[in-house]
Amino acid sequence: MSDILSIKDLRVSVEEKEILKGINLEVKTGEVHAIMGPNGSGKSTLAYALAGHPKYEVESGEVWMGDDNVFEMSPDERAREGLFLAFQYPTAIPGVSMANFLRTAVNAVKGEVVDGEKKAIPITEFRKMMLDKMSLLQIDRAFARRYLNEGFSGGEKKRAEILQMALLEPRFAIMDETDSGLDIDALRIVSEGVNAIKGPQMGIVLITHYNRILNYIKPDYVHILVNGRIIASGGQELAERLEVEGYDNVIKEAVQEAI
Ligand SMILES: Nc1ncnc2c1ncn2[C@@H]1O[C@H](COP(=O)(O)OP(=O)(O)OP(=O)(O)O)[C@@H](O)[C@H]1O
Ligand SMILES: [Mg+2]
Repeated sequence: MSDILSIKDLRVSVEEKEILKGINLEVKTGEVHAIMGPNGSGKSTLAYALAGHPKYEVESGEVWMGDDNVFEMSPDERAREGLFLAFQYPTAIPGVSMANFLRTAVNAVKGEVVDGEKKAIPITEFRKMMLDKMSLLQIDRAFARRYLNEGFSGGEKKRAEILQMALLEPRFAIMDETDSGLDIDALRIVSEGVNAIKGPQMGIVLITHYNRILNYIKPDYVHILVNGRIIASGGQELAERLEVEGYDNVIKEAVQEAI
């Protein structure tokens, strides 16, 4: 099974403007990598490119999950192989209840193929799985009947995404600003939820602006993305330095080292 997500010299443009200018990153299952960087530096672009969003043009470079070439896979093949993306701005799907959405997603990704046909997970079994994970994330049961993300508060959307992640048990999860818009209690609950579902089988890329979430979900590596390039990598102390000194100093130092 693929236990390394490997991003090699990835260049991505949006509307003919180059946004990612050669990203190299290797994430092993069991590791947590945080990506931090100023607004507009290309963090979400990286997530969209990995998801296969048509607006994000891969100009060059490769992404591998073990022996699988990600850019040769359709977005749903990527999901079936264990890639999960939680977006900064989750979209609403009116008329589709959260329970139905989750069941469809879980069946599509985890459903067993028997005699060439996908076997759906029995409803009662699914319901139990869902309720278990909902209590883990302290999500109200009534939520399962609501339409996905429609009228959800910012924090509720983020929790719904983590619920999806908990059910899909991906091998690699890219989480784009999961912490934005969460109040202090929700941040703790969501972080504890992520800690409960992560493990040696899951690699996590956590995109964030704030050190706060990293106090709960401890990163093994922190990378600073500026202007489409990773300009510095380190441990959690790098995130702490950023909080105290801001990006300017860290960027200056990286530039000096490069000269
Ligand atoms: N769909 C799009 N259409 C036009 N421009 C885009 C699109 N997506 C990204 N960009 C541009 O690419 C650059 C990088 O954007 P991106 O969303 O990746 O930044 P980010 O690092 O996630 O920022 P933030 O911290 O504000 O979320 C920005 O200049 C943005 O305007
Ligand atoms: Mg972003």
